[in-house]
Amino acid sequence: MALLELRDLSVRFQTNDAEVLAVNDVNLTVEAGQTLGIVGESGSGKSQLSFAIMGLLARNGRASGSVMFDGQEILNAPPKVLNRIRAEQIAMIFQDPMTSLNPYMRVADQMAEVLVLHKGLSKRDAVAEAVRMLDAVRIPDAKGRIRLYPHEFSGGMRQRVMIAMALLCRPRLLIADEPTTALDVTVQAQIMQLLSDLQRDIGMAMMLITHDLGVVAGSCERVAVMYGGRIRETGPVGPIFAEPTLPYTQGLLDAIPRVDQDDEELRAIPGQPPNMSRPPSGCAFQPRCPYRRDICARIDPPLEGFAPGRARACHAPVAEVLARLTQAAPNPGQPAAHPDEFPPQPIPRGAVAGAGAAGTPSTTEGQ
Ligand SMILES: Nc1ncnc2c1ncn2[C@@H]1O[C@H](COP(=O)(O)OP(=O)(O)OP(=O)(O)O)[C@@H](O)[C@H]1O
Ligand code: SF4
Ligand SMILES: [Mg+2]
Repeated sequence: MALLELRDLSVRFQTNDAEVLAVNDVNLTVEAGQTLGIVGESGSGKSQLSFAIMGLLARNGRASGSVMFDGQEILNAPPKVLNRIRAEQIAMIFQDPMTSLNPYMRVADQMAEVLVLHKGLSKRDAVAEAVRMLDAVRIPDAKGRIRLYPHEFSGGMRQRVMIAMALLCRPRLLIADEPTTALDVTVQAQIMQLLSDLQRDIGMAMMLITHDLGVVAGSCERVAVMYGGRIRETGPVGPIFAEPTLPYTQGLLDAIPRVDQDDEELRAIPGQPPNMSRPPSGCAFQPRCPYRRDICARIDPPLEGFAPGRARACHAPVAEVLARLTQAAPNPGQPAAHPDEFPPQPIPRGAVAGAGAAGTPSTTEGQ
C-alpha cells in the first residue's frame, strides 16, 4: 500500500468572474521513503495540489476526489483528524517561510508549542528538543538563537527554522513547496543536502515541489510534470531527463542554461501558461506547442502509460518527439511543423525507460 495515494484530485476556486480549475483530476502515489518531484511553471497548480492534501485551501476553494494517507481517507476530513495528521504524520514546508512562522512569537515558543501539544512533552523538554532540531538543521548557536523572533533570522536561516519545525514530530511525509526559492545557490545546496540527510535519518517520504529541474535531478527518484492543473508526464527521473517524451518537458529541459555549450542564448518556452479560468480548448499546451496537430485543439489527451513506470498525455507519438531530440529541436512556441516534416521513427530498443521494449503501462500516476 502506498503511503500517499491521490485519486482524481481536483481543486476548483469560485471567483467573481469565473470558476478556476486549478488542479484537474490528478492521480499519483508516493511510496514510503520515496522522493517525488513535482515540477511545472508558475500557476500550474503545484501549491494548490499540496494545500488540498493538507486541507489548507483558501475559503473559495473546494477539493474533490480522494487523498488516501496510509490507507485512511483524509480529503475534507474533519479539522480534528486533519490537525492530528498534519502535526504528527504529514508536515509541510511552505513557499514563503513567514506564512508558517508566527512573527510575534519567539522561535522557542512556537517550536515548543508543537511538542507540548502533540507529543505531550513538558515545556522544558520541548525547548531542549527544539534546540536539538535547530542543531540538526545547522543553526549556529541554536541554544541562544532559539530565543529570537523569526525576523531576526536571515532568509536562509528562517528556511532552516521552518524545516526544523516541520520535522519536529518526525513526519512520515514531508511536502516541501519550493523549499529553496529565493535562496542563493550555496544555501540552496546546503538546504537540499540537509533535507536528504534528514530524510535518510528519519526515513520519511518527500513530495518536493520546485521550478528547479536541477534540484529534481539531484534529489528525486520520480518526477511528475504539471501543466495547466494536470500531470502530463511522469516517470523515473533519469529516463525523463534523458528522453523527455512530452513537448512541454522538452521545453523545460531546454530552458536550463548550459555552461558547457557555446550557445549563450537563453531559451525559454515562448507564450504564457494558460489562464485556468479560461483554459484553451483541448490540450492546454497547444497554443505554445511546436508538435501540435488538429486534434490537439479538440481533445485533451489522457495520461497513458507507454513504458514501465512512465506515462504521458500527448497526441504526438513518442517516436516523433524523441526523434526531434537528436535534431535541432524547434523552440517550443514556434509554429507547428507539418507532421510529414518529422515522420514517426521507430524507438530504438532500450531507448525508453526501464526496459528493453515499451511494455504494458505500469504507472500508478495519472492525469
Ligand atoms: N484563492 C484562489 N482563488 C482563485 N484562484 C486561485 C486561488 N488560489 C490559487 N488560485 C489559482 O490556482 C492556480 C494554481 O495556483 P498554484 O498556487 O497552485 O500555482 P503554482 O504552480 O504553485 O505556482 P507557483 O510556481 O507560482 O507557486 C493559479 O491559476 C492561481 O491563480
Ligand atoms: S502535441 Fe498536442 S497533445 Fe502533445 S503537448 Fe503538443 S499540443 Fe499537447
Ligand atoms: Mg506555488
